[in-house]
Amino acid sequence: MIRNFINFVLSCVLLAVVCGYRPVVIVHGLFDGPKQFVKLGTFISETHPGTNVTTVDLYDNMASLKPLWQQVEGFRKAVLPIMESATDGIHFICFSQGGLVCRGLLATLPKHNVHSLIFLSSPLAGQYGETSYLKKVFPKDIKSGVYRLCYNCWGQKISICNFWNDPHQRVKYLKSNTYLALLNGESKTPNITEWRERFLGIKKLVLIGGPDDGVITPWQSSLFGFYDSNETVVEMRKQRWYQMDVFGLKTLDSRGDVVQCVVPGVGHVFWHSNITVYKECIEKWLT
Ligand SMILES: *[C@@H]1O[C@H](CO)[C@@H](O)[C@H](O)[C@H]1NC(C)=O
Ligand SMILES: *[C@@H]1O[C@H](CO)[C@@H](O)[C@H](O)[C@H]1NC(C)=O
Ligand SMILES: *[C@@H]1O[C@H](CO)[C@@H](O)[C@H](O)[C@H]1NC(C)=O
Ligand SMILES: *[C@@H]1O[C@H](CO)[C@@H](O)[C@H](O)[C@H]1NC(C)=O
Repeated sequence: MIRNFINFVLSCVLLAVVCGYRPVVIVHGLFDGPKQFVKLGTFISETHPGTNVTTVDLYDNMASLKPLWQQVEGFRKAVLPIMESATDGIHFICFSQGGLVCRGLLATLPKHNVHSLIFLSSPLAGQYGETSYLKKVFPKDIKSGVYRLCYNCWGQKISICNFWNDPHQRVKYLKSNTYLALLNGESKTPNITEWRERFLGIKKLVLIGGPDDGVITPWQSSLFGFYDSNETVVEMRKQRWYQMDVFGLKTLDSRGDVVQCVVPGVGHVFWHSNITVYKECIEKWLT
């Protein structure tokens, strides 16, 4: 018994030394870049020494307003070599708008090897709210008017419009949105079967968000919840695309592989530098 135990411990130690932890790829959000993720990198190397952490240095700051499919193209080229050299797979940590970039990446990488897909306060079901972020782009419009700018082919060339989800303009959203509505299977795309398979290829989906975020609106969008036409939040499991299992979320959930981690008291730009958030919601998924 003892001998078996010692062998077991030795082989674990050997495994950690030889194989180490899976590499981590971080995808940044709107108006930021690698600089904002230095602290997260430090947390990871303190708890998981030797982890190869890459924060992709593309579409930083103002360039993060570029259309999301275009960003996905760029990120794919950067991420592919990391995936290919990681025989045992990688983890993704995707912050805010970066979560939507990661959705597009997963959909379009035929043989991805992503283990944990961690969405850090990401507007996964869309955004409908005025925030300081938005005011930089649409200075004069109040939220009820943003759809006029977003829901046409020019608007869709701005990243925010790719996930602007006005609950009072359903028909226009479904007709003009070229990104989120497709990925969430709200409007029809022939690619959905393939995308669903790839989405199901991940091992764990970790959804992190909280009521004091202040930017993601409604904040439950970080957990796949969203407003109905009365601006009442409908949670993930009551969403049509969940119940119809359009893109695989329900299957993943029934497999026991959807984790929600809600942390109050964290403002949007602090998610990646808050040690409590890291300890409670991220650390254990990075092995
Ligand atoms: C981390 O991974 C990248 C991409 O696979 C590789 O180019 C780089 O050499 C690695 N760094 C270390 C320190 O292993
Ligand atoms: C959708 O599928 C078509 C046909 O296979 C392919 O050419 C296209 O690149 C796919 N688009 C995306 C965004 O995956
Ligand atoms: C919205 O509210 C009205 C009035 O309270 C109600 O009749 C209607 O069913 C609600 N719609 C939804 C989608 O919940
Ligand atoms: C980190 O998150 C905890 C948990 O909600 C919160 O109490 C704390 O104020 C946060 N710290 C910072 C620096 O934002």
